[in-house]
Amino acid sequence: MSHIPEESNTFADCLLGWYDENGRSFVFRGTKDPYRVWLSEIMLQQTRTESAGPYYERFLSRFPDVAALAAADEESVLCCWQGLGYYTRARNLHKAAKMVVSDFGGAFPRTAEALRTLPGVGAYTAAAVASIAFGECVPSMDGNLIRVFSRLTDEAEDASQPATVQRLAEEAKRLMPQDRPGDYNQALMDLGATVCTPGTPDCSACPIQAYCLAAQAGHPETRPVLPRKAPPICVPLNLLMIFGHGRVYLRQRREALLKGMYVFALSEDPPEQALNALGLTGAEIVPAGEARHVFTHRVWEMTLWAVHIDHIPPALEPNFYTPEQMDALPVPTAMRAACAYVRKELHQS
Ligand code: ADE
Repeated sequence: MSHIPEESNTFADCLLGWYDENGRSFVFRGTKDPYRVWLSEIMLQQTRTESAGPYYERFLSRFPDVAALAAADEESVLCCWQGLGYYTRARNLHKAAKMVVSDFGGAFPRTAEALRTLPGVGAYTAAAVASIAFGECVPSMDGNLIRVFSRLTDEAEDASQPATVQRLAEEAKRLMPQDRPGDYNQALMDLGATVCTPGTPDCSACPIQAYCLAAQAGHPETRPVLPRKAPPICVPLNLLMIFGHGRVYLRQRREALLKGMYVFALSEDPPEQALNALGLTGAEIVPAGEARHVFTHRVWEMTLWAVHIDHIPPALEPNFYTPEQMDALPVPTAMRAACAYVRKELHQS
């Protein structure tokens, strides 16, 4: 049994009253257009709300609706996603747009359950889109809602477990107001991001503090209970910028990480060996600095090298690009330091 009575609307009233006054304003808010809501929720899966705005607007000006996105080629979608990282999201976005056009006649499915059939749309994104765009009463259990409800109910079980999330979701759903489900979800996200924060929450500023069992027990910071995360593994890599005839070597990745993106020559082997593996020998290898890029489970610790070759072997000819051609390719942020070096080297700033 929950300690918050369902029949009283007070809980939702307190929360929504706070949201009306203190909710954050973002460019992606204030629309119920499912394409826009879906796009923003995919971006917000792994990008900070404060950073997403310019990317969202750029993407919409390039692909204004689901039909335009479905008609695009994958490389231009990846290009437009540059800077956001986690490119699987862009590939899934593209696949999902094609599916909306081919399987749903161009109209987004209207329930969380049906939205979940789209690639890249998990339970929390489906619920966010269904509640915001279509007014369905489904809680969007992201990290914020999990934290807020773990504290409200003083949940002592591991909150990374589906059964725990399910229990928290049931409580969130039970208290959801029929008339403003999208605002309710977003109010909880904002509360989680600004007041009921990880670490030490600002309980004195919380509109629903009176309902919070963890605050009453004096230990809100101990909830949610989560297992310790393994730190990302460091991968030392040599990155070779191979210049020839005013162009630079790039290769399209086939590996799962950054699949489809264009990168410079990357190798765990020493630079000479990496160069030999490409059939290039004898060129001078010059140190060109270091760079680091953090992925979810990996950190690339890159040592940069510059190599100038006089002759490009015919087999490698298609891999050499001018700076202008490079600008039109999806090159991940992990390559940023090397890109800056390349632009300078090829006299393009
Ligand atoms: N995080 C994910 N979706 C969000 C939204 N709609 N508002 C605020 N934060 C979010």
